[in-house]
Amino acid sequence: MITYKNVGMKYGQNTILHDVNLKIGDGELFVLVGPSGSGKTTLLRMLNKLTVPTDGDVYFEDRKIKEYDVQKLRLDMGYKIVVFSPI
Ligand SMILES: Nc1ncnc2c1ncn2[C@@H]1O[C@H](COP(=O)(O)OP(=O)(O)OP(=O)(O)O)[C@@H](O)[C@H]1O
Ligand SMILES: [Mg+2]
Repeated sequence: MITYKNVGMKYGQNTILHDVNLKIGDGELFVLVGPSGSGKTTLLRMLNKLTVPTDGDVYFEDRKIKEYDVQKLRLDMGYKIVVFSPI
C-alpha cells in the first residue's frame, strides 16, 4: 500500500503540488493522467526519495518514505514510466 497524505511540493515560490491525498493498494493498477507540467513525475519521484515533498508525507506500508534508508529504499522500490501519447 502506498499512501500520499496532504502532499505538497514547492520549488521556490512555485507550488507544483498542493494537498495530494491518495491510496494505491497492493496489486492495484493506478493510472495517473495529467497535462505536461502538472506534476506527475514529481509525484512519482517521491516513491524513492528522488524528490522529497515540502509538505505532507508519502507512506509505503504505513512507514514514512522519508524515514527509510535511501539505499535500502531504492533496492526495494523502483519504478518504470510508461508514456501513452495521442497519435
Ligand atoms: N527540480 C525542479 N526545479 C524546479 N522546478 C521543477 C523541478 N522539477 C520539476 N519542476 C517543475 O515542476 C512542474 C511539474 O513538473 P513534472 O516534471 O512533475 O510534470 P509532469 O506532469 O511529469 O510533466 P510531463 O507530462 O511533461 O512529463 C513543472 O512546472 C516543472 O517545470
Ligand atoms: Mg513527467
